Amino acid sequence: MSSNTVEHYFRLSKLDRQRLKEHGSFLIWFTGLSGSGKSTLSEAVERELFDMKIHTYPLDGDNIRNGINKGLGFSEVDREENIRRVAEIANLFVNSGTVVLGSFISPYQKNRDEIRSIVGKDHFIEVYLSTSVEECERRDVKGLYKRARSGEIPLFTGVSAPYEAPDSPDLEINTEYVTVEEAVAKVLELIKPKLKQE
Ligand code: ADX
Repeated sequence: MSSNTVEHYFRLSKLDRQRLKEHGSFLIWFTGLSGSGKSTLSEAVERELFDMKIHTYPLDGDNIRNGINKGLGFSEVDREENIRRVAEIANLFVNSGTVVLGSFISPYQKNRDEIRSIVGKDHFIEVYLSTSVEECERRDVKGLYKRARSGEIPLFTGVSAPYEAPDSPDLEINTEYVTVEEAVAKVLELIKPKLKQE
């Protein structure tokens, strides 16, 4: 679809917005299987940042799919569109001077590469939750693995749809061996330099 639009460049820039908030802005991307601990870790990291007076906002697969991405399913094409839209939303937040925490399975490497190119590599931090499918299935917090195994939910990641592990994540955390507190400390250590204003 083509449209006759001409981009308007606003005088207030991302740097102005960061200056007002007194910190840098970027996207922390949590990828991994359903039940691997993405949302739990994201929420715990956000709490710490919030207490440090950092402006944050969480974007979460289950929530986004009930709102702006309602109507998208779990085929490869729909997941790609899900992630593309989220990356664009995250980019707006980053431009507003906000630290964004995205928790999405995002099973395809090419889609995660697209996020990096939309947000810019300097504003993208990839955290891979490498918790095994066996452990996620044992936890089965939402009861979805059981339903996927019985065939009730098709194309379920880790059961009947693929998950491509990141080639070179900035951080890998397996919640079978690392506590939430330890994981939070690792993430905070990693992002510390990026919290400085650009
Ligand atoms: S993604 O693959 O497009 O990145 P996203 O993170 O938005 O997925 O949504 C995943 C959530 O949707 C899961 O945590 C789970 O609660 C729910 N879900 C429902 N059906 C599926 C499915 N077929 N595969 C994976 N997750 C599913």
